[in-house]
Amino acid sequence: MKQQPIGIFDSGYGGLTVLKAIQAKLPQYNYLYLGDNARSPYGTRSFETVYEYTLQCVRWFFDQGCTLVILACNTASAKALRTIQKNDLPGLGPDKRVLGVIRPTTEIIGQFTQTGHVGILATVGTVISESYPIEIRKFFPALHVYQEACPMWVPLVENNEHLSPGADYFVEKHITHILSKSPAIDTLLLACTHYPLLMEKIRKFVPVSMTVLSQGEIVANSLHQYLLRHPEIDEDCSKKGDTRFYTTDSTADFDTHALTFFGKPVNSTHLDI
Ligand code: DGL
Repeated sequence: MKQQPIGIFDSGYGGLTVLKAIQAKLPQYNYLYLGDNARSPYGTRSFETVYEYTLQCVRWFFDQGCTLVILACNTASAKALRTIQKNDLPGLGPDKRVLGVIRPTTEIIGQFTQTGHVGILATVGTVISESYPIEIRKFFPALHVYQEACPMWVPLVENNEHLSPGADYFVEKHITHILSKSPAIDTLLLACTHYPLLMEKIRKFVPVSMTVLSQGEIVANSLHQYLLRHPEIDEDCSKKGDTRFYTTDSTADFDTHALTFFGKPVNSTHLDI
């Protein structure tokens, strides 16, 4: 038995919102978190670059002994996951697994809508990849999917302006825009790690009846089910409830931002990649 942590990857701090939900659901596991802060944001980068960076980080997790790595980043899941799974994993180790955040969400999103019209709020990169409409079509072919890129939302959160009055302008702008694409939209998915921190503002600009979905809990439930279905992977996962954090940039900066995204203090280690 190898007994290694579950790897949780993000371009930076955002994946901490996903790790927080995973830890709440599955506190017994050990986790290894890596934020590629030195090269974030990924949301504005090309397919090739996001793929290259993500693959490097996935290799690092495997070098640490992880069997299972979760790409907690929507942009990495959209732009790199499929290629890594298809082209790289067979050579990296047949027992290794890399999962993303898009599939767990798209396979259940249809359960939340009454009208069959759903909106996806995401980074430019995730929207351009068309990953959400493509994946949703596989599970719910009759759904109408509308996308909106919100490029200012990540910087608002990272600069701790997400609760300020100034944030209202950018939140209202994108909410108004996506809702103008179809008045029948009754479900909005926050398809970016940072957007749950804007939930309070988003709620201000949507009808009270709107379902607004964050991914953390959905991904956590999906991981739980995955580990139940795959006891051979679960056996490889250490269960001492311990989490370690790595960042490719300043640890002081990571630890400060982690409070916003994770809600509790963390003590990260620097990694040169
Ligand atoms: N983590 C990214 C995502 O979920 C947002 C931040 C970035 O663009 O790197 O898409």
